[in-house]
Amino acid sequence: MIDRIGELREQAQAAIAAAESAAALEEVRIRYLGRKADLPNLLRGVAELAPEQRGPTGKAANQARQALEALIERRAGELVAQELDERLTQDRVDVTLPGDPLPAVGRLHLLTATRREIEDVFIGLGFNVAEGPEVELVYYNFDALNHDVTHPARDHTDTFYVHDDVVLRTHTSPVQIRAMELQPPPIYIIVPGRVYRRDSDLTHTPQFHQIEGLAVDDDVTMADLQGTLLAFARAIFGEERKVRLRPHFFPFTEPSVEVDVSCFNCVDGVTADGQRCPICKGTSWIEILGAGMIDPNVFGYVREYGYDPERIQGFAFGMGIERIAMLRHGVPDLRLFYDNDIRFLEQFG
Ligand code: DAH
Repeated sequence: MIDRIGELREQAQAAIAAAESAAALEEVRIRYLGRKADLPNLLRGVAELAPEQRGPTGKAANQARQALEALIERRAGELVAQELDERLTQDRVDVTLPGDPLPAVGRLHLLTATRREIEDVFIGLGFNVAEGPEVELVYYNFDALNHDVTHPARDHTDTFYVHDDVVLRTHTSPVQIRAMELQPPPIYIIVPGRVYRRDSDLTHTPQFHQIEGLAVDDDVTMADLQGTLLAFARAIFGEERKVRLRPHFFPFTEPSVEVDVSCFNCVDGVTADGQRCPICKGTSWIEILGAGMIDPNVFGYVREYGYDPERIQGFAFGMGIERIAMLRHGVPDLRLFYDNDIRFLEQFG
């Protein structure tokens, strides 16, 4: 009988190894270990054997059964792994993976990037960043900035009026007054923000951006203004740059200047390929901003906040962020900033 057990064991082992699916394996199990199968039957018959045969026969049959059960279990594991493998090779598309091509990551708008760069330069020089309202009182936008009642910028054809005494601010300069009302001197601030004018053409949009600067202290001079703007010009347009101050007029500064930076695109107005430089128009200087020493009349409006025109002095400047970005990156049309054409936006940042 022990021989018969060995035979069955070998047959069953071969059948288990040959089973190629869970169902086939189950059939093998039933055939060799099921209730009506030979091996369990043999086990049940052990009781009828001669006493000295019972031990070894029972043992062999039990070992055979345990061994076969273990083999079935192992084969079942192999089949599961094999099936998974096949499914994975067939189902190559994994919907849980990120899309292809990868979705584009966002980037800063060129105006935002330029604003932050300019801010960084002035923060490095010790200025703080301040802000003010875009809907502004005429008082702050014009009156306290020493604009004559007849100043043309006050005209309704130039400026958006919300009420008789409320406008969309036409520049960031009103924040000079608001900031001085909030803190006594010394004050060193820059003020980025949106401004609004009734203008629309190739070089003007009704809304654009400026950065204002204000420095007030005991002993601030025009030389400080020039040095500050030189540091700014070099950081933004290159270490070789020079600046030039030309006399000008603004209501709230006296004296007032327009500030030019030496052209970064040519030598003496002529480009490397011998053309008249299109950026500086052959003049080798590019206007970048307006500036000046704070007019004592302006301090007169904030005297009660600690700004005694007899004791303190200051400088201010104001620049257009669009203009700086256009010069620096050769952007030909102001409106490109606002069209939101992805082909334009993707070139920067
Ligand atoms: N607010 C002026 C403008 O929008 C620019 C400006 C000029 C600002 C001179 C200043 C300054 O602070 O001192 O045209």
